Amino acid sequence: MYVVTGATGNTGRIIAETLLANGKKVRAIGRNAEHLQSLVAKGAEAFVGSVTDGSAMLRAFQGAEAVYLLIPPNYATENFRAYQNEVGKAYANAIRQAEISHVINLSSVGAHLSQGAGPISGLYDVEQELNRLETVNIVHLRAGFFMENLFFSLDLIRNQNINGTPLRGNLLIPMIATRDIAEVAAQLLLSLDFSGQSPRELLGQRDISMNEATRILGKAIGKEGLAYVQFPYEQAEQAMVAMGLSQDVARSLNEMDRGLNEERVRPLEKRTAANTTPTSFEQFAESFGAVHRGQEGAKATGV
Ligand SMILES: NC(=O)c1ccc[n+]([C@@H]2O[C@H](COP(=O)([O-])OP(=O)(O)OC[C@H]3O[C@@H](n4cnc5c(N)ncnc54)[C@H](OP(=O)(O)O)[C@@H]3O)[C@@H](O)[C@H]2O)c1
Repeated sequence: MYVVTGATGNTGRIIAETLLANGKKVRAIGRNAEHLQSLVAKGAEAFVGSVTDGSAMLRAFQGAEAVYLLIPPNYATENFRAYQNEVGKAYANAIRQAEISHVINLSSVGAHLSQGAGPISGLYDVEQELNRLETVNIVHLRAGFFMENLFFSLDLIRNQNINGTPLRGNLLIPMIATRDIAEVAAQLLLSLDFSGQSPRELLGQRDISMNEATRILGKAIGKEGLAYVQFPYEQAEQAMVAMGLSQDVARSLNEMDRGLNEERVRPLEKRTAANTTPTSFEQFAESFGAVHRGQEGAKATGV
């Protein structure tokens, strides 16, 4: 039996569905029974509970051979790193007590940095916490920048006809589609042929800059020539707080962007066939275009 955390999210849902399609038993974790319903319809067992609840995680992990772990985003928390550590400890205790043998942990490029990388330094802590489970076999999937992060720009693109973040426009970033991470994670879970504890970088189909990504998205939504603007850190922080993120989360995300801009947050490996994944940014842009059209359609019909 497999346990999948974040089972209603980008990676967890595809992992759970792939395991079920291969005839495996899956316990799917989320906070909301309704969100889990479509997985239950495909044969999953729903487990409703919070990843911050250590005793709930222990109950959820009982009887499983392997688990897929991620630290769900929590934009409201007053101390993001403390939150990440709390979840990491809850997972580690549950793994130890439930005697789980194999773990796939969603981490990030840059998780070798204990300081100065924002949320990624929290993922460093989680990797270290899990590695203390000496007899457990663990792969830390150090994924690149999610292409899906660009969905956060939808409102900006619609309202101001620009895309922007604090990242340098010409900075080359390994951007990955979350479905590619899920595919690798699911194959590792199906084969369970890994031992020891090691990081594995996943760098997407190619490195791509925000300038190029914005051009491709502009084309996909019928806004040829859509411009990318690098925002000052302070302005970005204020905008994030205005959108409801806590001051600490906004500060932490800026720290990550600074780390990327200064090329401290970067892959440790050269690009190879093993760390390259198939989905191109152009393919992602098709789904971005569909979401954008859906929102425009909803607006036009007043929904
Ligand atoms: N963004 C990037 O560029 C990047 C890069 C590398 C690594 N990462 C890592 O990837 C993670 C996100 O992975 P993802 O995109 O697959 O996930 P996701 O789509 O954000 O989904 C996370 C799921 O977790 C559930 N959840 C939220 N809070 C919870 C809680 N307290 N207890 C139990 N479940 C909870 C939510 O479902 P319900 O609402 O149904 O509960 C949600 O669907 C990030 O947090 C980060 O650690 C991100």
